[in-house]
Amino acid sequence: MEERILKVEDLKVYFPVKKGILKKTVGYIKAVDGISFDLKPGETIGLVGESGCGKTSTGKALVRLNPIHEGKVYYNGQSLTELKDEEFNKLRPDIQMIFQDPFSSLNPRMTVGEIIGEPLKFHRKNEDVTELVIKYMELTGLRKEYLKRYPHEFSGGQRQRIGIARALALEPKLIIADEPVSALDVSIQAQIINLMMKLQKELNLSYIFIAHDLSVVKHISDRIVVMYLGNVMEISPSKKLYSEPFHPYTKSLIASIPVPEPGKKGKREFLQGEIPSPLNSPVGCKFSTRCKYADDLCKEKRPILEIVEGEHQIACHHWRKINNVE
Ligand SMILES: Nc1ncnc2c1ncn2[C@@H]1O[C@H](COP(=O)(O)OP(=O)(O)OP(=O)(O)O)[C@@H](O)[C@H]1O
Ligand SMILES: [Mg+2]
Repeated sequence: MEERILKVEDLKVYFPVKKGILKKTVGYIKAVDGISFDLKPGETIGLVGESGCGKTSTGKALVRLNPIHEGKVYYNGQSLTELKDEEFNKLRPDIQMIFQDPFSSLNPRMTVGEIIGEPLKFHRKNEDVTELVIKYMELTGLRKEYLKRYPHEFSGGQRQRIGIARALALEPKLIIADEPVSALDVSIQAQIINLMMKLQKELNLSYIFIAHDLSVVKHISDRIVVMYLGNVMEISPSKKLYSEPFHPYTKSLIASIPVPEPGKKGKREFLQGEIPSPLNSPVGCKFSTRCKYADDLCKEKRPILEIVEGEHQIACHHWRKINNVE
């Protein structure tokens, strides 16, 4: 049995920039520029970073909604990148994606029953799916009386439950949730996160939970992958990341989480400057233009992800010096 449900190795997702009437490729938007991480069965990885750092592009590449420019993706030891479309289609139910906006991702002309049942009809032809649809509605906290209602009749939180039920109906093993709670009120966010944690235990799911806010992923994640401009900066067990961030970028992300007690002041390191364009990103460390520790080495050479200890990894030339590690 493979101990990793997913392995991502040096994944690159580039979007060509075309110009002129001949539509010549004049450059690439390097949305994801060589990232590596893995996921254990039943584990939750929180994928975080500022807007535009490539989180959605990563998620979509894993389900073939984005082309992979380079790199490898293994699902249960099987190379997804080398699978033909028809072989990949057989695996498709296993890996499901949930999107941020529960409204636009649900067809307004279909009833809840039809929405949840639609993928089932495709994958389980000739079966009466109503019973299954009701099972998944109840599992996600939706009453079966809602079966014939339309998406506009539901609140944001309920709509996200519909989205989750639709994904679950295919009995996936891995769910990529792209900012599933970002569009919801804070009180509702916790309900959906708790629901996802409950479902994970009951159905033995593995999650990639995408968010741009570190506070959102804190409770649900076992490990956190911090991305910046298409690169991974740090991977750390969740607790350690919050208590002892090592990467200068992670330090500033943690510092920007609002402090619950007003008046409490700590040593806070806020981010300076703008995130560079992914069309023309720094040659060396992608964070070098905003990092107060950056020197010539950082500007010239991209740091590779190295192991700090156990499952804690970092991509920074100077992490030892910055954190007083011998
Ligand atoms: N289909 C596309 N064509 C061209 N560029 C794209 C495409 N999709 C994404 N990009 C670019 O790739 C970069 C990464 O985008 P992505 O949506 O993956 O970021 P993100 O981390 O999910 O951001 P957000 O937090 O705002 O959702 C951005 O610069 C974006 O403009
Ligand atoms: Mg996104």
